[in-house]
Amino acid sequence: MFKAAVLTVSDRSSRGERPDGAGPLVRELLEGAGYGVVETAIVPDEQSQIEAALRQWSDHEQVDLIVTTGGTGFSPRDVTPEATLAVCERMAPGIPEAMRYASLQITPRAMLSRAQAGIRRRTLIVNLPGSPKAAKENLEAVLPALSHGLDMLSGHPADCAGASC
Ligand code: MTE
Repeated sequence: MFKAAVLTVSDRSSRGERPDGAGPLVRELLEGAGYGVVETAIVPDEQSQIEAALRQWSDHEQVDLIVTTGGTGFSPRDVTPEATLAVCERMAPGIPEAMRYASLQITPRAMLSRAQAGIRRRTLIVNLPGSPKAAKENLEAVLPALSHGLDMLSGHPADCAGASC
């Protein structure tokens, strides 16, 4: 079972002014797909705090997959993609490409998400938008493919010639 963590990035939820809708939903989707969610947290839209959580969970908790929700849009405080870029050693652009491709079939506003995905050490980090609806639609677009990437990342031989690839 892969270890996952969910980071909600929201000024208002971090202050207790708005319930965190997307975080618990993302957790439920991950658990439904067989992940063990070992960490969850809510941080404000502060790049240093987002980076600190990503570093802690990848370097010290050895989480396989970190999913963030929120802070991917155009508002001046939206810096989740920048925090992700700052901590990742290698980017995985196909994941946000797939999320935006699938989401554009639902809404043209999908193009407004600046979500990133990348790898820090043995951890894959994937950004999702912040609304529960958008987070669910984006995660469902990529979730079936992620475990194959995590197999490769963890050093397990992955047979990419298999019929399921
Ligand atoms: N993707 C899907 N599938 N469904 C949506 O409703 N909303 C978009 C976009 N991606 C949306 C979506 C909107 S309106 C915005 S502003 C961006 O995600 C960024 O959202 P965020 O700032 O909450 O991260």
